[in-house]
Amino acid sequence: MARSQNEIYASVMHDIGSPLTAVSVMLQMVTMDLEATRGGAPAAVKEQLSRVNQQVGRCMEISRRYLNYARERSMQKQTVRLNQALADVRELLRAHPSGRRHQLDVQLMPADLTIRMHGTDLIQVLLNLITNAFQSSSTPLRVEVAGVYHDDPLAPADLLDQPQRFLANREVFANEPPLVALRVSDTGPGIPENLLPRIFESYFTTKTPGEGTGLGLVIVRRLVSQVKGGLQVESKPDEGTTFTVLLPVEVG
Ligand SMILES: Nc1ncnc2c1ncn2[C@@H]1O[C@H](COP(=O)(O)OP(=O)(O)OP(=O)(O)O)[C@@H](O)[C@H]1O
Ligand SMILES: [Mg+2]
Repeated sequence: MARSQNEIYASVMHDIGSPLTAVSVMLQMVTMDLEATRGGAPAAVKEQLSRVNQQVGRCMEISRRYLNYARERSMQKQTVRLNQALADVRELLRAHPSGRRHQLDVQLMPADLTIRMHGTDLIQVLLNLITNAFQSSSTPLRVEVAGVYHDDPLAPADLLDQPQRFLANREVFANEPPLVALRVSDTGPGIPENLLPRIFESYFTTKTPGEGTGLGLVIVRRLVSQVKGGLQVESKPDEGTTFTVLLPVEVG
């Protein structure tokens, strides 16, 4: 755990950023609404609002500062031990509120592989995919994370796009072995065929305003593309969804 605690903090800080921004925007709106009401807000309320605003600002500053610090530290380290990252993600999500009603099964790999990616980024990718799965259903579902090692490039047939499956970053995926295919699968409601091509668009979300920004998958695709990895999605309505992240394995 200790090894990548820094990375975990960084992704937690990152994820805390969006609700904090939402709180700050809502505060501004409340303040403006109060100004607009006749007679304005009572002085005491104004004073309290301004204090809340200051504290939110401080939280945002702390999270920004920590992210920069973690980013600088991780600059030197371009690789991550996969099993360590998987164990950390499992540990981290044990306490995640949206995971309480669901079952998460993270399987470690038999061999201790090293991935050519920043640890923070890998954790960020997995957290986004797993929380998306958790949030896809209010009834309990099973989310499984498991890896498969590939000594050879993936077969073209496995990368072909179909109505219910496509490779989201074909233009950058190197398909150079050795690779590991990390699958995040859920038994949730799935994604309708007509929406599937849109899920990687910025701000595309099916969540109610305030619940989702529609940026999670955009970030996932960017982080995976940075290491020339591949990102594939396959979904069947009423059966579930599987995201497969194809990542370069460090040799030797
Ligand atoms: N496992 C999944 N099952 C069903 N639908 C999914 C799944 N993963 C993603 N989606 C769909 O893709 C959309 C976009 O996901 P994305 O992570 O980019 O944004 P979001 O989850 O809506 O918001 P944010 O990630 O900012 O909280 C979701 O709103 C949802 O409709
Ligand atoms: Mg999301």
